[in-house]
Amino acid sequence: MNRILVTGGLGQIGSSLVTHLRKQYGQDNVIIGDIREPENPEEVEPYTRLDVTQRENIDKIIGEYDIDTIYHLAAILSARGEQNPQLAFKVNILGLYNILESGREHSLERIMVPSSIAAFGPETPKDNTPNDTILRPRTIYGISKVTGELLGLYYWEKYGLDVRGVRYPGIISWNAPPGGGTTDYAVEIFYYALRRDKYICFLKEDTVLPMMYMPDAIKAITMLAEAPAEKLRHRTDFNVQAMSFAPRDLVNEIRKYVDFQVEYRPDYRQKIAESWPRSLDDTPAREEWNWKPDYDLPAMVKDMLENLGKKLGVEL
Ligand code: NAD
Ligand code: SER
Repeated sequence: MNRILVTGGLGQIGSSLVTHLRKQYGQDNVIIGDIREPENPEEVEPYTRLDVTQRENIDKIIGEYDIDTIYHLAAILSARGEQNPQLAFKVNILGLYNILESGREHSLERIMVPSSIAAFGPETPKDNTPNDTILRPRTIYGISKVTGELLGLYYWEKYGLDVRGVRYPGIISWNAPPGGGTTDYAVEIFYYALRRDKYICFLKEDTVLPMMYMPDAIKAITMLAEAPAEKLRHRTDFNVQAMSFAPRDLVNEIRKYVDFQVEYRPDYRQKIAESWPRSLDDTPAREEWNWKPDYDLPAMVKDMLENLGKKLGVEL
C-alpha cells in the first residue's frame, strides 16, 4: 500500500485519518479528494477536488496519482440525509458504485468503506447487538450503509476487489467538526461546555448510543486495512464497540471539569437515534483482527476537554 486516495478527506474522520496515514506513508502518498475546497489549501496538499458522483473524476485521479488504495469516506450523514434523501442516495449509493467500478477497472489493492450503526433498524436487538443480525434501517443513510456493505461483499466475491469496512458508532473528535449526523451532539456539547454557554441538546437525556473517540476510530479502520486477508470471515460489516452513553452521562462527566447548563429539546433526530442500537457485540472484530479500544467515557472526556480547550484558547 503506498498511494492512497481519501475521499471526503476534509471531513470529520477524513482529516484525522489523513494526518495518521501521512505520518505512516509520507505526505505526498496520501491524496485528499473532496467536493469542498479546503480553507487553508497549503496545509492540506496534496488535495484534489473530487465529486464521487462523477465517475470520470475518480478515474482521472486514480490515473494521475497512481492510486492503489482508497479510503472512501465521502458521504452524507444521517440527519443531513433525511433533509435531502435524493442527495444522500446520489452521494452514498451512486458515489460508492462509482468508486467500486473504478476500483475494479484499475485493479486497486484495497478499498476501505466505513459502514455505521445506522445499518441497523427498529427491529434489531438494541443491547449488545450481534454482528450478524436484522438489518432493516429506515433512514436513507442507513439504507445506503446496508447497500454499501452488500455491494462491497459482492465486489470481493465476484471480482476479488478487497473491500473492507467497520460499522462505526458516533465518532467524537476535537480537530474537525462533525458533518450532519444524529450523534453530533456528543461533539457540539464540548464547545458549549468550554465556553460556559447553555447547550440545547436535540436528543432526550436518556438516549443511549454507542460512541467512539477519534483515535480509536483511526485505529479500527487502519487495523482492519492491515489485517491478513486469510483471517477475515467478515469483510465490510464489522461491529466495533468502544463506549455507550446517554447525553446525561456525558453531561455528568463533563461537569467534573466545567460547570454549564443543558436543556433537552428533542427534534427529528430523536426518532433516528431510537432506531439504532445502544451497544454492540464486536466479537468478530476482536477475534478476526484483534480489535480493542483504548478510550472509555472518562478518558475520552478528559482528552477532549484538554485538546479542544487548547484549540479554543479556553482554560479548564
Ligand atoms: P463528514 O460529513 O464529516 O465528511 C464527509 C466528507 O465528504 C465532507 O468533507 C464532504 O465535503 C465530502 N463529500 C460530500 N459529498 C461529496 C461528493 N459528492 N464527492 C466528494 N466528497 C464529498 O463525514 P465523516 O463523519 O467524516 O464520515 C466519514 C465516513 O464515516 C462516512 O462514510 C460516514 O458514513 C462514516 N461514519 C461516520 C460516523 C461519525 O460519527 N462521524 C459514524 C459512522 C459512520
Ligand atoms: N454518527 C453518524 C450519524 O449520526 C452515524 O453513522 O449519522
